[in-house]
Amino acid sequence: MEGARTSRIPDFHRKPMEERLRIVAEFAGLTEEEVRLLSNFGNLDPAVATRMVENVIGAMSYPFAVAVNFLINGRDYMVPMVIEEPSVVAAACNAARLMRRDGGIRSVASEPIMIGQIQVVGLRHPHYARALVLERKQEIIERANEVHSTLVKLGGGAKDVEARVLETPRGPMLIVHLLVDVRDAMGANAVNSMVERVAPLVESITGGRVLLRIVSNLADRRLVRSWVRVYKEDVGGEEVVDAILDAWAFAAADPYRAATHNKGIMNGVVAVALATAQDHRAIEAGAHAYAARDGRYKPLSVWEKDEGGNLVGTLEMPMAVGTVGGAASTHPVARVALKILGVRSAKELAEVMGAVGLAQNFAALRALATEGIQRGHMRLHARNLAMMAGATGDLVDRVAEIMVSEGRISYSYAKELVEKLSGEKEGRA
Ligand code: MEV
Repeated sequence: MEGARTSRIPDFHRKPMEERLRIVAEFAGLTEEEVRLLSNFGNLDPAVATRMVENVIGAMSYPFAVAVNFLINGRDYMVPMVIEEPSVVAAACNAARLMRRDGGIRSVASEPIMIGQIQVVGLRHPHYARALVLERKQEIIERANEVHSTLVKLGGGAKDVEARVLETPRGPMLIVHLLVDVRDAMGANAVNSMVERVAPLVESITGGRVLLRIVSNLADRRLVRSWVRVYKEDVGGEEVVDAILDAWAFAAADPYRAATHNKGIMNGVVAVALATAQDHRAIEAGAHAYAARDGRYKPLSVWEKDEGGNLVGTLEMPMAVGTVGGAASTHPVARVALKILGVRSAKELAEVMGAVGLAQNFAALRALATEGIQRGHMRLHARNLAMMAGATGDLVDRVAEIMVSEGRISYSYAKELVEKLSGEKEGRA
C-alpha cells in the first residue's frame, strides 16, 4: 500500500542493524538476495562500521588495486588505489614506468600546518580589534595548546595566529586564523577543538561575538609539490611533448578544460585517499579552492619543455592527509594499505599522493593528445558489458574483442554475442 510508505521513522538510529535493514527492505521492496548482498560486510567488521557512521545497514565493496612502478624520491612504492573507474590504475602504472629515470618523481610536502578559522562579528572597530588579537597572539596559542598536550609533545600544536578584516555582504568581520601543526593527523578534529577552546578568549579580547569556529579546507599551508622529467623518447617524441604542452595550455586558459584536467589529477589522488581511508572530500575541496586561488580556476599542474626537448611537469596542491586518527586508524583495510605503501609519516603519504596525481595527469594528457582516451576506456567498458551480459571465463575477452573491433559496444550487442557464442560452445561440447 503506497500510503503506508514513510521515511519518517522515529529512533531509526537506535534500532538494531537487522531491524533497520528489514525496515529498508520493506520500504524499497528488496529481495532476499538484495538483503543478503547488503549484509555482506566483506573485510569490514560490522561493529567497526556501526561505530564509524550512523544508521548502517550494510557495506559496499570497491576494487582495491595496486599501482606498480612508482619510484618517488629514489624509493620504490606500491600504491594502493580504490576506485570504480576503469583505466585509472593502468594509466598510473604506465606513467610511473616512464618516470623512473633520474631517481623517479620528486615530491616534497611542507610542514603539516592546518588553519582553523574564528569568525568574529558585531565589532564596532574591527581593525582595532585585529590589532588587539595580534598583540595577544601568544596567549591565544597557549590556550589552544591546552587542548592537545600530546600533539605539543610530538612537536606539533598551535604555532601562530593571523587576523584580517573581511568585507562581507553583512558588513566587516574579523577573521582570526589559528595555524596548527597537526603532525601525522589529518588534523580537522584537533583544529576544531582548539578553535572552540580559544573562542571565549577571542571574544573577551575583541569585545565581539564569535560565530563559526572551524577548520579551513583550503589547506594552503600544507602543500605538496611534485615534479618530474619525462624524456622525449619515452613520451613518444618531441611532437607528443608539444601536443601535451598544447593540451596543458588549453587548461591554463580555460576553466572548462581546467576542471577536467584537475579531475584527472584527482583520479589518482582520491584513489589513494580512499584506499587509505582519508577524508577525500577535504582533499577535493582544498584542491579546487587552491586551483581558483587567484580568482580564476586554473590547472594544478604545469607542463613545460626543457632545453633538451623533454617534458617537465610540476604539481602543487594542498594535501591534508593523516596516518593516525580517523578512519586511517580504524579501518583495517586502510591499515593494510598504509603498510603496503610503507609510508612513515603523513608528510610522506602526501608526497606519494602528489606524485600519483602528477603521473595520472601525465597519463591522461598523453592519451588525450595522441590516440584519445576512448580506446583504452572502451576495451574495459566492453569487458564490463560482456560480464553484465553473462559472459564468464574466456568468453569475456572474446565478446569484448568483437565489440571493440566492430566499434559496436553496447549491452544489447554483448547479450546477443554471449548467447551466440555460448550456444556455439555448447554445440561444440
Ligand atoms: C577521466 O576520468 C579523466 C580525464 O578526463 C582527465 C583529463 O581529461 O585530463 C581523462
